[in-house]
Amino acid sequence: MEKQLHLLAMFLWVNLLMWGVSAGTEKVVERKAAEKEISAVGDPGMERDGLRVAFEAWNFCNEVAYEAPGMGSPRAADCFDIANSTLIHKVSEADNRLGIGQSFKGLTLNALHSPDLYAVEKELYLGSLCEVSENSKPWHFWMVMLKNGNFDTRTSWCPENGRFVPPFTTTRFPCFGEGCMNQPTFNHQPTQLLGDGTMRGWFNGTYDLDSDIGKGLDNISFYEVVWEKKLASGSWVFKHKLKTSKKYPWLMLYLRADATKGFSGGYHYETRGMLNTLPESDFKVRFTLDVKKGGGPKSQFYLIDIGSCWKNNGKPCDGDVLTDVTRYSEMIVNPDVPDWCSPTALGNCPPYHITPDNKKIYRNDTANFPYGAYHYYCAPGNAKHLEEPVSLCDPYSNPQAQEIVQLLPHPIWAEYGYPTEKGQGWVGDPRTWVLDTGGLASRLYFYQVLRITYLRTRYCEIILFLVDRLWLFFQFQDPDTPPAKRIWTSIDMGTEIFVSDKDEEAEWTLSDFDVLLM
Ligand SMILES: *[C@@H]1O[C@H](CO)[C@@H](O)[C@H](O)[C@H]1NC(C)=O
Ligand SMILES: *[C@@H]1O[C@H](CO)[C@@H](O)[C@H](O)[C@H]1NC(C)=O
Ligand SMILES: *[C@@H]1O[C@H](CO)[C@@H](O)[C@H](O)[C@H]1NC(C)=O
Ligand SMILES: *[C@@H]1O[C@H](CO)[C@@H](O)[C@H](O)[C@H]1NC(C)=O
Repeated sequence: MEKQLHLLAMFLWVNLLMWGVSAGTEKVVERKAAEKEISAVGDPGMERDGLRVAFEAWNFCNEVAYEAPGMGSPRAADCFDIANSTLIHKVSEADNRLGIGQSFKGLTLNALHSPDLYAVEKELYLGSLCEVSENSKPWHFWMVMLKNGNFDTRTSWCPENGRFVPPFTTTRFPCFGEGCMNQPTFNHQPTQLLGDGTMRGWFNGTYDLDSDIGKGLDNISFYEVVWEKKLASGSWVFKHKLKTSKKYPWLMLYLRADATKGFSGGYHYETRGMLNTLPESDFKVRFTLDVKKGGGPKSQFYLIDIGSCWKNNGKPCDGDVLTDVTRYSEMIVNPDVPDWCSPTALGNCPPYHITPDNKKIYRNDTANFPYGAYHYYCAPGNAKHLEEPVSLCDPYSNPQAQEIVQLLPHPIWAEYGYPTEKGQGWVGDPRTWVLDTGGLASRLYFYQVLRITYLRTRYCEIILFLVDRLWLFFQFQDPDTPPAKRIWTSIDMGTEIFVSDKDEEAEWTLSDFDVLLM
């Protein structure tokens, strides 16, 4: 009887093993065949001639607060189709200039005189004009996002972890005085087809409302995105410029692929975008980045920034700013940005690191923890069971609490195709990246992970194969709450020039952007 059982066990074991092996090889073949087709974005590789690009400007807490005079609400778009070598624009300049007090199709009465709500509904309206619905997964546009980091704490415009706060004074945030949280000017050249077959258009402007950018950029802030493409070939190339000034020392400029519906990272309203399938753990991000000017030592250039939102109990965000938490992870490629996380500053490190083969290394394990791989970790301000020591994220710069995991180039990231040495991908080293962002992101620490059920076994391959598949499930098991499903609603590249003491300028081009589902 015992022997029979033993034989039965052997039989099952071999069968499982065979099944594991064949499932494994099938998957590889399948991937090879499918890799090209399955894209999570509406415009794979930025190759579609009929471009869809939009613009949004955010104040310190991702709102508008008030519009710049004569500029309308800070949402705009450039979208066109091509027929017979003619660009047929879908969005008029009158649409782009729409601002509070002016009605448009679908605008609710509530939003008519509220700059914050108006911008949200204007984005949906522009989305409706730009929408491409060739199949069942409509999509809208790439999003150029510009953010001013000035914060006037005497205004009560930004809540603290989602909670209203009365005016207060502090020197923690840059602000030159009344009006420091203003929106920028906005100039737009709608895309044109030039004689040599190049299509070209741009957005630009400044936060220094009283200056004239036509007369030179000395001492004033500036942003610009120019897009170019040869008709019927290659990718759109987006050329970015961002310049800080004394009055505007903290600026951010990104090109984002946002979710086509629902909330995208950093936002608590319905948005429009490019990701018509939301990536989870099995995805790669491909793009070409050429950084021409770095933007100085404070420029936290994000090779890639991913954003999402889920609550500390693992549930998806629902717009309740008191319990929603924005989650970001960013790979910073500026070699001048130091690793704040270190054996003597554990509070700037995540509680642990997980290796590609799913081993957990605690940050107090000084012999093994990869301190140099982390710039900074900060925890959500509304978390209840934090492990000390800990840094809390800035409570004001999002509409709700946030959690941020910032990475630096390090050999530990090699497995995922991320930069392994300082300087890779930086000025003078343009590259086309294929990043296993899904694999890396599924192994990053995010708050809520209180306990890991780690299966150990001597029965190697087959068990490891199963563990690999069960891993994601167990990894986020928490004694009290079901695991958060990490669904990434925003993927972007660009820079955050973080409170620079002198005028700095960054310049880069981005092309071939794609999100590939595996
Ligand atoms: C495209 O251009 C050709 C030649 O100019 C013309 O005959 C044709 O009618 C045009 N088609 C459309 C759809 O406008
Ligand atoms: C930015 O926009 C202005 C105003 O339309 C235009 O004159 C200028 O050429 C653009 N580019 C730069 C670099 O200023
Ligand atoms: C810019 O500021 C510097 C220092 O304050 C000053 O010397 C220079 O003249 C200014 N340039 C312009 C064009 O205003
Ligand atoms: C390291 O940290 C872990 C988790 O916080 C803890 O269980 C362990 O006791 C610590 N080890 C040392 C040597 O302090």
